[in-house]
Amino acid sequence: MTVDTSRYDAALDAFLSDSSAYRATAAIDELRATDYSRLDRAGLVYMDYTGAGLYAESQVRRHQQMLLEGVFGNPHSKSPTSLTSAANVEAARLAVRTFFRASPEEYEVIFTAGASAALKLVGESYPFGPDSRYLLTYDNHNSVNGIREFARAAGARVTYLPVDAAELRMDPDMVRAELAKPLADNNLFAYPAQSNFSGVLHPLEWIDEAHEQGWDVVLDAAAFTPTNRLDLSVVKPDFVPLSFYKMFGYPTGMGALVVRRTALSKLVRPWFAGGTITLASVQGEGWHHLAPGATGFEDGTADFLGMPAVSIGIAHLESVGVDVIHQRVSVLAGWLLDHMNALVHSNGAPMVRIFGPRDMTARAATIAFHLLDPTGEAYDVHQMEALAGKQSISLRTGCFCNPGDGEVAYRITAADMAAAFAERPAATFQECQDLVRTATGKMPNTIRVSLGLASNFADVYRFIEFAEGFRDVVRGVL
Ligand SMILES: Cc1ncc(COP(=O)(O)O)c(C=O)c1O
Repeated sequence: MTVDTSRYDAALDAFLSDSSAYRATAAIDELRATDYSRLDRAGLVYMDYTGAGLYAESQVRRHQQMLLEGVFGNPHSKSPTSLTSAANVEAARLAVRTFFRASPEEYEVIFTAGASAALKLVGESYPFGPDSRYLLTYDNHNSVNGIREFARAAGARVTYLPVDAAELRMDPDMVRAELAKPLADNNLFAYPAQSNFSGVLHPLEWIDEAHEQGWDVVLDAAAFTPTNRLDLSVVKPDFVPLSFYKMFGYPTGMGALVVRRTALSKLVRPWFAGGTITLASVQGEGWHHLAPGATGFEDGTADFLGMPAVSIGIAHLESVGVDVIHQRVSVLAGWLLDHMNALVHSNGAPMVRIFGPRDMTARAATIAFHLLDPTGEAYDVHQMEALAGKQSISLRTGCFCNPGDGEVAYRITAADMAAAFAERPAATFQECQDLVRTATGKMPNTIRVSLGLASNFADVYRFIEFAEGFRDVVRGVL
C-alpha cells in the first residue's frame, strides 16, 4: 500500500501537537525502531495484541544467551544442574509476584500452560456442591464459561449476568442484587477485568463487594494485564488466570494462576501427578499426600527452560512501564475511535458500527466492529480480513471465544440459537456461522483491532486509511 506521506505527516503533526500524553511515551518509539524493528522492516501493521503480544528482540537474545551458556537439569533433584533450574523456576515465581505487587503471605503463584489451564485448575478443584453458586457474566472467555460444566456436574446453581446491547456492560445494580444472594456453601463469581471482545474495563470494586457477601472471585486478567496495571496490594481477587505471551509475546505455552492463599486452601485437587505430591504409595493403595502450596498444583516437570524467559519478559515489561504502555495505547485508541466514529459514506451513512463503548470511558484499546456499506449492510468480515492482509495489516475476526458478548452484539437470541441448531449441531466453526446466518439472517462474527506495547501512530493511521478505502463501495461489488 502506498501511503500519501504529506497527508500522513500532517496527521502525525496534528496528533502530536494535540497529545502531550502520547509525546511522553516517546521512549516506545525508540524501542519500536530497535527492539521491534522487524515490524517496520516487513512493513507490517500488527493490530491483534489482545490475541497475542509481541516479544522484543532483546528478550529472545537474552534467553538464547542463557540457554547457550547454562546447563540445566530436571529441577526435581539436588544436583548442581537441577538446583540451577529450580532456582530459575523460583526466580520467575518471585518476578511474577513482584510484578503484581502480591505479598508472599497473601498470594501464591502457580505456573500453568496458560490462562485456560489456570481456569481449569480452578474449575476442577473448586468445592462446588448442591448448595453453591457459580455466578458469571455474559462477557467472558469460553475458558471461564467452561467452569460451568464442573459447577453443574456438582449440582451447583449457575447464573449468568447479562450485558446491555449499547455498551456490552453489566448493570451494576443487577450484579449487586445477585451478589447479595449467595447460597450456603461455596460461591464463585467470575468476570474479566477487561473484555477481550469489546475492550470494556469492568469495575474492580466488585471484588470487595463480592467478598463482603461471602463469594470467592475469579478475575480473568488475560486481556487486562498486557496494557493495564493489576496491583494485588490494592485489589484482592482470589483467582487470577493469565497467559504470558499476551503480556510480553514470549514464551508461549506458559501462564499462571495467581491465587490467594485463603482460596487455595479451599481447592480440592481431583488427582495427583508427578511433582505434586510429597508421597504416594502403590501398595498402600488409596493414600497420597499433596505437596503444600503451588507445588501441589503444578503437574509434572515445570517448563524449566522456558521459565527464565518469563523473568526476562517481566523485566522487559517493567523497563518499559505498564503505566506508560497504558497511557500510550489509550491515546492511540482514543484517536482511532474518534476517526472510526467520523467515517461516513458520501450519503452520510456511517462506515463503522462499533460493538461496545464508542469512546475511551472505562474501556481499553481493544475495539470490535463491523465495516458497513452505504446501505448499512456489514461487509463480510473474512473478506475484510483478507483485504487487510493484502495491505499487511493483521487484525482479528471471529467471536474471540466470547459467545456471550457476541450474541448480544449481533442481537442473537436464545430462540435464534435454538432455530439454528434445531436439526443438528454444527461440526465446524464455519458451519456454525452458516447455520446461524441461514436461520436468522444475522452474522455471528466481528472484526477486532487491538493495540499494545509496540503500537504507534503509523499503525492506527494505516488502519484508518484502509477503512476509508471502502467509502461508497457497495457490499456486492467487493
Ligand atoms: C479474557 C481471556 N481469557 C482467557 C483467555 C485464554 O487464554 P489462553 O488461550 O492463552 O489460555 C483469553 C485468550 O484470548 C482471553 O482473552
